Amino acid sequence: IPRKTSDPPLVFHWIPIVGSAIWYGNNPIGFFKACQEKYGNVFTFVLLGRKVTVALTPKGNNFILGGKSIAFNAEEAYKHLTTPVFGKDVVYDVPNEVFMQQKKFVKFGLTTETFRAYVGMIEDEVDNFMSHDQRFRTYQQDDINEWGNFDAIGAMAEITILTASRTLQGSEVRDSLDKSFSDLYTDLDGGFTPLNFMFPNLPLESYRRRDRAQKKMSEFYVNIIKKRRENPNGDHTYDMISSLLDQKYRNGDVLRDHEIAHIMIALLMAGQHTSSATLAWTMLHLASDQDVANALYDEQVKRFGNPDGSFRAMSYEDLRHLPILDAVIRETLRMHPPIHSIMRQVREDVVVPATLAAPSKDGVYVVPKDHYVLASPLMSQLDPDTWRDADKWMPSRWYDEEGMAAQALKTYVDDGGEKIDFGFGAVSKGTESPYQPFGAGKHRCIGEQFAYLQIGTIIATIMRKVELRLPNPVPEHNYHTMIMMPKDPKSIHYRRRRFN
Ligand code: HEM
Repeated sequence: IPRKTSDPPLVFHWIPIVGSAIWYGNNPIGFFKACQEKYGNVFTFVLLGRKVTVALTPKGNNFILGGKSIAFNAEEAYKHLTTPVFGKDVVYDVPNEVFMQQKKFVKFGLTTETFRAYVGMIEDEVDNFMSHDQRFRTYQQDDINEWGNFDAIGAMAEITILTASRTLQGSEVRDSLDKSFSDLYTDLDGGFTPLNFMFPNLPLESYRRRDRAQKKMSEFYVNIIKKRRENPNGDHTYDMISSLLDQKYRNGDVLRDHEIAHIMIALLMAGQHTSSATLAWTMLHLASDQDVANALYDEQVKRFGNPDGSFRAMSYEDLRHLPILDAVIRETLRMHPPIHSIMRQVREDVVVPATLAAPSKDGVYVVPKDHYVLASPLMSQLDPDTWRDADKWMPSRWYDEEGMAAQALKTYVDDGGEKIDFGFGAVSKGTESPYQPFGAGKHRCIGEQFAYLQIGTIIATIMRKVELRLPNPVPEHNYHTMIMMPKDPKSIHYRRRRFN
């Protein structure tokens, strides 16, 4: 630590303890922009008694996400929220070294072979949903001139849980969805909110329901696991439970039943709102931009269309050759990354590099132990210094006429920054990338490929069947949920296409 140091500038606020919670909670981007103008790229604000130091720009992301995990600790930041929901002995309830092994176990289950099997299952679920759910009543009739409508969030949330349980979660979960499982999920989800994040223990009914649901959900999975151990010959080849049953920790121990159960709950929670929000935003944009929607439909016809107007089934390999579908998802995640703030707790004083924030007259900045740090991928993904027409949803920025990536970044790649790989579902792992919807570094998402597969297959299947319109502008962000959702109104109009 250098001799002359000072804390980062503190954002002015009127009310002690509450601090800037209301401004940040209502509109984090407006808040960050105002603070950036006044204080620079590194500043501290008070969030209900906690001191949170924000580091903006790709260099700030790198500072936090590429920082030593001993100094910037995820467990301490998240466990009060996650352990009551996921359960004990997994993720942030264990030392990071154990969680990293658990992450690897999940990765082992997400192979090309499983993905190949998943595409058809997802297509089938969407098909079935659209043929039976009330929201798609108009689709189910023969008249192609009638318009129906569905709520972007409600319909997409349902399709997400149906497809995730059919694939990752396994047949027992899928079969229980219409029964008790849905209610348990709803209660558990009611305990996964910003309120739970800020106040881990309140004497509220929703907290009690959360705890009851966690216990029951845990028992539900443990029963599945017990049955499978008793009868190992059932057909569950491609789901995550069967993969986890085969894994061993480095010391040779197999996973205990409740650990598998709690990892499955964690995966359910990690994938549900992130994927359904991304689907909702994608559908809203496609409904409001006929040019892109038509291009996406034409791409489907070109690759899958039969002479009689029907479509052949998709395969995992096909998904790698659909640049427009890929760009549509990628661009949606640029403007609407489901997680807008990534947090860590600071365990030791950390010097802020001068390249990120120039020292003040009082010396170099040091983020003190016990602060929280916050990285905002959303800020860098909307930065007009990096992205041309940053506020415009423009999938074409991700490909040129040859279907290759070109226009994505205005300055970043020119400056010798990290190159992004543009294949379908490809990853950009850099901690200093201006594009980080899946985070970066040690805690980076392992669900990216699955999410692209799930979202891509769902969008393609829906777009083959219906055309869309949006009667209102694309909604603004609602920041009041853990995952960034569209505000009301978010109803999408649809009409059945002629051939299907
Ligand atoms: C971590 C985003 C889907 C499992 C993360 C992180 C982000 C993210 C930003 C980093 C969090 C941090 O550093 O604090 C997304 C988005 C998704 C998505 C945008 C979909 C569009 C999924 C799915 C799964 C999943 C489907 C499971 C199958 C995980 C796991 C981590 C993670 C296990 C690691 C957490 C850690 O190491 O601390 N995700 N995710 N995610 N995600 Fe995802």
